[in-house]
Amino acid sequence: MSSQSTHVAFLIGTITIVSLMRPDCTAVKEDEKGFKLCVTSRRGMKDLSHQNLTNVPSNLPNETQYLDISHNSIRRLNGAQFSGLSQLCFLKVTHCGLQEISPSVFSHTPALKVLNVSYNDLAIIPDISLKQLKILDLANNLYNSYRIPASFQNLMNLDVLSLGSTAALSVNYNDFDPLSNVSLNHLLLGAGIRWQKYDSGALAKFKSLQKISLFASFCRDFGMFESLLVDLNVTRTTSLRFISLFPDNCTVTGNPFKNLRTMPFIQNLTIENVWINSSFMEVFLKNVWLSSLYDLSFVNITYNEDTPDGFQFHTINHTINLCSITFNVVNHYQYRYPTINMSFEAVSNLTYLKFSGTGMNILPCKAISALPSLETLDLSDNLLLDSGFWWFQCSYASAFPELKKLSLSKNRFRSLSFISEKTHQMKTLESLDLSFNSINLDGDCSWPAHLTELSLGNNNLGNRVFQYLSSNFERIDLSKTGITAITQADLSQFPKLTHLQLSSNSIQVIPGDITAPALISLYIDQNAITSVSRDVLAGLPRLQTLKAGNNPFVCSCDSYWFVTVFNKSLLLDWPLDYTCSTPPSLAGLSLSEYKTSELSCETWLQVAVALPVMIVISAAIGLVFYKCDGVWYAKMLWVWIRVKRRGKKRSNMLKNESFSYHAFVSYSHQDSDWVDSQLVPSLEGSGFSLCVHERDFVPGDWIIDNIINCVESSYKTLFVLSKHFVQSEWCKYELFFAQHRAISVQQDSLVFILLEHIPVDSLPKKFLRLRSLLRQQTYLEWPEDERKQRVFWASLKSMLHMADTSMVLKDVALAISDTLPLVTDQV
Ligand SMILES: *[C@@H]1O[C@H](CO)[C@@H](O)[C@H](O)[C@H]1NC(C)=O
Ligand SMILES: *[C@@H]1O[C@H](CO)[C@@H](O)[C@H](O)[C@H]1NC(C)=O
Ligand SMILES: *[C@@H]1O[C@H](CO)[C@@H](O)[C@H](O)[C@H]1NC(C)=O
Ligand SMILES: *[C@@H]1O[C@H](CO)[C@@H](O)[C@H](O)[C@H]1NC(C)=O
Ligand SMILES: *[C@@H]1O[C@H](CO)[C@@H](O)[C@H](O)[C@H]1NC(C)=O
Ligand SMILES: *[C@@H]1O[C@H](CO)[C@@H](O)[C@H](O)[C@H]1NC(C)=O
Ligand SMILES: *[C@@H]1O[C@H](CO)[C@@H](O)[C@H](O)[C@H]1NC(C)=O
Ligand SMILES: *[C@@H]1O[C@H](CO)[C@@H](O)[C@H](O)[C@H]1NC(C)=O
Ligand SMILES: *[C@@H]1O[C@H](CO)[C@@H](O)[C@H](O)[C@H]1NC(C)=O
Ligand SMILES: *[C@@H]1O[C@H](CO)[C@@H](O)[C@H](O)[C@H]1NC(C)=O
Ligand SMILES: *[C@@H]1O[C@H](CO)[C@@H](O)[C@H](O)[C@H]1NC(C)=O
Ligand SMILES: *[C@@H]1O[C@H](CO)[C@@H](O)[C@H](O)[C@H]1NC(C)=O
Repeated sequence: MSSQSTHVAFLIGTITIVSLMRPDCTAVKEDEKGFKLCVTSRRGMKDLSHQNLTNVPSNLPNETQYLDISHNSIRRLNGAQFSGLSQLCFLKVTHCGLQEISPSVFSHTPALKVLNVSYNDLAIIPDISLKQLKILDLANNLYNSYRIPASFQNLMNLDVLSLGSTAALSVNYNDFDPLSNVSLNHLLLGAGIRWQKYDSGALAKFKSLQKISLFASFCRDFGMFESLLVDLNVTRTTSLRFISLFPDNCTVTGNPFKNLRTMPFIQNLTIENVWINSSFMEVFLKNVWLSSLYDLSFVNITYNEDTPDGFQFHTINHTINLCSITFNVVNHYQYRYPTINMSFEAVSNLTYLKFSGTGMNILPCKAISALPSLETLDLSDNLLLDSGFWWFQCSYASAFPELKKLSLSKNRFRSLSFISEKTHQMKTLESLDLSFNSINLDGDCSWPAHLTELSLGNNNLGNRVFQYLSSNFERIDLSKTGITAITQADLSQFPKLTHLQLSSNSIQVIPGDITAPALISLYIDQNAITSVSRDVLAGLPRLQTLKAGNNPFVCSCDSYWFVTVFNKSLLLDWPLDYTCSTPPSLAGLSLSEYKTSELSCETWLQVAVALPVMIVISAAIGLVFYKCDGVWYAKMLWVWIRVKRRGKKRSNMLKNESFSYHAFVSYSHQDSDWVDSQLVPSLEGSGFSLCVHERDFVPGDWIIDNIINCVESSYKTLFVLSKHFVQSEWCKYELFFAQHRAISVQQDSLVFILLEHIPVDSLPKKFLRLRSLLRQQTYLEWPEDERKQRVFWASLKSMLHMADTSMVLKDVALAISDTLPLVTDQV
């Protein structure tokens, strides 16, 4: 076994200075625990922190869901200040010098889920009984004991409880009794100081406790700490986090973690903010190796080699459960590379290794082949260069044989072509994170087919980047890469693409012709996009998540479809991150509150609404038209137009022919009254000569002969039609037309006057001729109205006029225009 022991020199640079970037304020608020539980609209958010307030403002809107009055000078909270805030869900009053909270506050705020009153001067833990409360932070106050008030037994939904006071130096056996029936998920306990007393069994009162974060220091006498571990074994706690477990001036001796070996429920252990000497590390890790732990993390530790040979760790004959190790920020006390002499046998089952914030600039050659099971390697936030990760002296023959995910984020990598070539060495690599580097597009890239996920976020790459990627990629992160436009051609290169992140670029438009049949998730937040159109989504049939917030949305019809129709459950950041940017009158309005009417935006709807309206209007006009005999006038106008048309054609013909009569008038004897009293006087009075049926027939001639004579010597034949005429007289003419086909062809010479309304279809079928004539021919209907009769006569006369037709037409026009004012008067 010892022959397999190897000496590895981790070449690690100087102590890194971790710069903490502060994102903007609202982002900080949204990251707060419980924010998402509570806030559904920006209007419900009131941030009144740092306002020099001495009291809770009384004019808070009753829709307030989130209230932050931290960093003020508010000594006490009382019920009256909160009356009306029935929707308050998130209350944060930290750094206010708060001394007292009246229990009546909570009778006004039944919906409260998150209460943060940490960093105050509360001298006792206040009475709180809120059924909905999920997160309660009472840390960093001045109460002198952890004795929980009995009212806490009502906090049935409490999930996270944070307790801590620099004045509370002991934990007593009965302190947590009221919480014994509350199934707390996470307890944060302590104020970072050493306890004087811990009554064994106190924490064991919790029926179950998933996770504990202990902010308490122990030194030399670790009995208290050990009994605390025994209690956490009783609560079956799976996750332990110890912050500042040893004071800086403490030299740790002994084996405080030996209980770990017999705690079967422990899975995760995090050691945070402490100095760790190599001598302690050796003892500590032995416990870990012998425990059931599978996840071990060191966060912000200062590592000091106090053993002359560095860290020595030898093989243990034991199955090791540990499969995940994290080092997140390691400060090196010595200004030199640490020496580590350990068997990689011990870590041969490791699947996850994170070595971040350690100042590493060269990857040790041994590590490349010594972690046969490693699936995830996270070397983010170090000082690695292209040549530091792929050190020229190392062999990459069997580099990370099982590695699937590699993060090289936040380093100093440069050449994308070099990296793409080197990834072929890692035969199982699927995911590579190169975000936050200084990547250049310096030449053609050849990516291995097994690599399907690449992150290039936060590198300055520009629109060309798509040409340097592989068609095998399924997940691509190009957040903040300086992209200003994307095209369908860019995307069509990636037929398997399922996840695409384009956040924080300067894209203005997602083209409507975009198609990505496999795309499941798309991030286009924080760009310059003004609307998300239906066309875009139509090209993404499998889309399940979309992030499109923090864009300058236009609140107009362009956004109508998105606001009203689009399924918001697809959106990760709805509704908080969606606000109107233009028009200026709506700037700042939440898109979810932007109301536009469907009518003003949907074309089909406009048509659908316009059509009935048009129909109603037309019907109204039609009705008026009908009421005022518009139909009749229209018919007359039609007659007039046809007369005018024909008049021209026939005028030449007429000049060459001579007729004895202007018209032959045929009528039934029943209608003779009208003919004698109206027709004949009117026409003959105007100088027309008429051959009137029977009156002018030559006696003794056969009636048909008489008809023929009259028809042939008349310019027009005038039929006075009534039902009676049709029944009694028309049969003669059917016969006549049958015999004189030649005459009948000149249908223009026939004029029909309808004395009563005769529907064509009501005519006997045998009168084929009449039916067709009435269908083709314009006819004049005799009106009852006197004004209309003037038009009637004018029209009739115009038809009979042979010589100067235009004169007559003028008469008709005049007659019609005379009557028009009367018509409009009636309307
Ligand atoms: C309460 O507020 C303090 C100060 O901002 C913060 O550090 C702490 O994380 C908050 N507690 C919870 C549970 O969010
Ligand atoms: C609060 O008071 C301090 C000094 O009294 C002043 O400098 C600061 O501007 C005030 N802040 C606000 C928000 O009024
Ligand atoms: C909030 O107050 C308004 C009037 O100021 C009232 O119309 C509304 O009903 C109140 N809402 C609730 C939930 O109390
Ligand atoms: C917890 O529940 C048990 C039985 O369900 C009950 O006897 C006990 O009083 C409860 N304890 C508290 C603190 O509510
Ligand atoms: C933890 O509990 C188990 C039984 O659940 C027991 O076997 C073991 O000895 C306990 N360990 C400690 C340190 O109390
Ligand atoms: C460590 O320092 C604290 C004060 O900072 C002191 O009270 C304590 O006695 C010191 N402990 C040791 C072991 O020196
Ligand atoms: C680490 O060792 C140094 C001596 O090299 C000692 O002074 C220091 O207290 C030790 N720290 C811890 C946390 O054990
Ligand atoms: C415990 O570790 C596992 C594996 O690393 C991780 O997935 C899980 O989130 C951790 N649980 C807690 C409570 O930290
Ligand atoms: C890191 O740990 C040290 C104590 O070892 C502490 O003073 C410091 O504040 C911690 N830094 C952070 C960022 O938590
Ligand atoms: C490991 O322990 C087992 C029994 O627990 C024993 O049979 C075996 O010989 C040991 N192997 C070594 C290398 O010590
Ligand atoms: C690794 O896991 C296998 C099976 O899961 C086990 O047999 C072997 O002992 C483990 N290796 C170590 C060093 O624990
Ligand atoms: C590493 O440890 C082995 C024993 O496991 C020992 O033989 C060897 O000398 C050590 N190497 C160094 C450089 O300390």
